[in-house]
Amino acid sequence: MSRRILIAGNWKMNKTSAEGAALVKEIVAGLPKGNLPEVLVCPPYLTIPAVVEAAKGSPVAVGAENVHWAASGAYTGEVSTGMLLDAGLTHVIVGHSERRQYFGETDETVNLRSKAAVEAGLVTVICVGETLTERENGETASVIDRQTRKALEGISDYSKVVIAYEPVWAIGTGKTATPDMAQEVHAQIRAILTDIYGETAAESVRILYGGSMKPANAPELLAKKDIDGGLIGGASLKAPDFLALVAAGAAV
Ligand code: PGA
Repeated sequence: MSRRILIAGNWKMNKTSAEGAALVKEIVAGLPKGNLPEVLVCPPYLTIPAVVEAAKGSPVAVGAENVHWAASGAYTGEVSTGMLLDAGLTHVIVGHSERRQYFGETDETVNLRSKAAVEAGLVTVICVGETLTERENGETASVIDRQTRKALEGISDYSKVVIAYEPVWAIGTGKTATPDMAQEVHAQIRAILTDIYGETAAESVRILYGGSMKPANAPELLAKKDIDGGLIGGASLKAPDFLALVAAGAAV
């Protein structure tokens, strides 16, 4: 098994162009020497050109936080895969719980967005995760099963797929799933991937953990067999924290 660890920053609605460029430059300057994990930052749409420019020639990849499935047309406020590629992006996040919670994103639209992103050749980080109520009601496994299978419907190129398990109750709350709790869900996702794509393929797909990941808890989480990196919000906004996460990823 040789899955390359992916340390991904989800900046959400934070940082201006100047701030984003400065953050990336600080990250690039502080990258550990030697073997690196894959390093990704996902800034807000408007700041993408400045961040891409700042990351140019460095190992830091840049992605978007969302994407629409249509190539173009009357979809006010949306951005297409072609536009992301045109801006020099290689990655995109799809189906983040904040999109599902605040912007009416459904399993169906997550699937449409994921399919379009994979077909465009973007590395597509598809987020799944249960809410606190769902966990308390013992529905975690069924929610993960439904979200994962629906998101992947019609996607054959698993080489572009990354799954991010983000328990909604752990996002931005300081509450982290324990490494054992996370591993249990990651193993379930791996089993779903095996069911869909077969064992060899499933072994090659990265499954990230997200939800209050920080330098203090990252090593324990990343030590788990099926945790292949992190999707990091809060701790990705400060270079020292993000660099410590990159270092934790390099140490796996
Ligand atoms: P957090 O966010 O690290 O601030 O909890 C993670 C995410 O929402 O991707």
